[in-house]
Amino acid sequence: MAADADTRFTVTYHRSPHAGRLALMTMDNGQDHTRPTTFGESALDSLEAALDELEGQADVKGLLLTGKPFVFAAGADLDAFDGATAEFAERAARAGHDAFARLRGLPYPSVAAINGVALGGGLEIALHCDYRTVSTGARALGFPEVFLSILPGWGGTQLTPALIGPQAALRAIVHNALDQNRTLKPTDAVELGLADRLLEPVDFLERSLAFLEGLAAGEIAVDRHPPEPDQLDAALEAARQAADAKTHGATPAPYRAIELVEFAARGGDLAQGREREIAALTELLPSRQAQASVYGFNLTQQRVRRQPGRPDAAPREVTKVGVLGAGLMGRQLAALLLHRHEVPVVITDVDQNVLEAARAHIEGELDQRVQRGRLDADKAGWLASVTTYARDAEALQGADFVIEAVGESLKLKQRVFADAEKVVDEGCVLASNTSSLSVAAMAADLAHPERVVGLHFFNPVALMPLVEVVRPGRASDEAVATAFELAKTLRKSAVGCADTPGFIVNRLLMRFMGAAAQAADSGTRFADVDAAIKALGLPMGPFELMGLVGLAVNAHVARSLHEAYPDRFPLNPNVAMLGELDLPGVYDWDAGGEPFAAIRERWQVEPDAQPLAPEAIRQRA
Ligand SMILES: NC(=O)c1ccc[n+]([C@@H]2O[C@H](COP(=O)([O-])OP(=O)(O)OC[C@H]3O[C@@H](n4cnc5c(N)ncnc54)[C@H](O)[C@@H]3O)[C@@H](O)[C@H]2O)c1
Repeated sequence: MAADADTRFTVTYHRSPHAGRLALMTMDNGQDHTRPTTFGESALDSLEAALDELEGQADVKGLLLTGKPFVFAAGADLDAFDGATAEFAERAARAGHDAFARLRGLPYPSVAAINGVALGGGLEIALHCDYRTVSTGARALGFPEVFLSILPGWGGTQLTPALIGPQAALRAIVHNALDQNRTLKPTDAVELGLADRLLEPVDFLERSLAFLEGLAAGEIAVDRHPPEPDQLDAALEAARQAADAKTHGATPAPYRAIELVEFAARGGDLAQGREREIAALTELLPSRQAQASVYGFNLTQQRVRRQPGRPDAAPREVTKVGVLGAGLMGRQLAALLLHRHEVPVVITDVDQNVLEAARAHIEGELDQRVQRGRLDADKAGWLASVTTYARDAEALQGADFVIEAVGESLKLKQRVFADAEKVVDEGCVLASNTSSLSVAAMAADLAHPERVVGLHFFNPVALMPLVEVVRPGRASDEAVATAFELAKTLRKSAVGCADTPGFIVNRLLMRFMGAAAQAADSGTRFADVDAAIKALGLPMGPFELMGLVGLAVNAHVARSLHEAYPDRFPLNPNVAMLGELDLPGVYDWDAGGEPFAAIRERWQVEPDAQPLAPEAIRQRA
């Protein structure tokens, strides 16, 4: 609630020599840009009051709507969605529509001057204006609603297809939301036709006002050519397929959004479209999926941003990083460090072939970013030139932060830390990417155990947003704060956790994996277990995930948890057996995705057991 509590719409007036009296309406919640302006009940009341005032001014010739610094508006107040009933959802949907319709109905040109972030309802209010300018400095525009298992319910599904055609509307509303909640850049917004002018931040407001003056004085006409919906059926089908692939039908939201875009694209009446949007939001917002999504969003975007568990100490400045182990995780960590932290990186491995493969991976990533226009070729050349590949610890000299990603063995990790400690200076932080071993045990025999922390990334490193910052009892505040700070630079959500087996994620995951393995023990096919779980909306099933994690790592984590908590984590002999096979996963993707023959032959099914139905698998998981 707090975010919305003070959102106010205020109106001031300007006299233009050739266009007459113009109104400037500003949306502002009175807080800095880290607390974006949102719309809840009181904000909509404030908008209604501002419109009452405007409608009483007979001589106004145009309206400019804009936000506070860096933020246009970030949409509905999500805090108010927590525990929302159908009555609340309907009232909120209708209140937004009512207020925005009055804005839309003003008898003179209105321009939304999108000076900063415009998301969800923030973008929708801009669509209710007649024209839009956008600043090149606006960080993101988009519709995150479908990502939250709801849909743009203040006109977005109806106005967007009318303005930019259904194909682009589906991209903005459905595909982007399902694609890790991608947003649009200002240039995309202009290219798609969502905005009419792209302006520089330096004189954004003045030039937006000049644009409004031109429109109000009849000196400027804006030509719009929304593309013909000639490929409508194909676009709708592609959006449905994307929804199937990403959510496996676990949430109705993308399908309802597609139906609404289709309604508008087939010439549906705006008033009817509005009622359909209200009905859809009334159904979706109280649903379990939306409530869980809103909870998850608040947790990851708001609470985790504050880095729970971070000590109040100054972090060490990190000007050179060491990565020990150039395998699956090490090479990805090195690539991410180069990409986001841009300091010299030394990567070590005992195996020269692994080092060469890591070099190919890291340089390949740099090349790819250059080809996509995301990285300057000179910068890529510099980053490649400050990356060193070494067989021993000597090269770590001068590093301020060293992270190990060697194989999951306590002895090995103790040894690589001891070797590193001989080379680096006293303040250098040593971090472990271990999935399940005791970080304190790795540090026990070091000269400076207080420098050791856990920093547990997940695979694939570039995509997975979470890292666990593990704090062993002897770790110094500076070491832990440095790990948190680095996580922030790498744009990861960092959570502090205790030095217990499996930390947080693997402890939860192993219960879930155990239930999946039990289902297979009962004779259920691996693929049927995966399909049953994916219908919960997960991107992959547990046996697919085992391949991504590595069968040996998975078995190792399962064993560590079993040793720590034997009653809660029985060791499944089939999972342990998988860890001994030198296979890249459960499924042989090169041979059509069937499980490997060795796994089919060696997996012991319980005698007389019956395969489980999908619902029973989901219940157990
Ligand atoms: N695989 C995952 O999904 C995943 C996820 C999170 C964390 N982890 C953890 O990350 C660590 C590494 O896992 P991985 O999957 O990358 O393993 P990996 O087997 O792919 O890589 C380990 C590398 O360490 C190298 N190595 C061995 N001894 C070394 C030494 N003395 N100095 C330098 N390098 C040495 C090996 O040659 C190998 O290339 C493990 O602790 C694992 O638990 C793995």
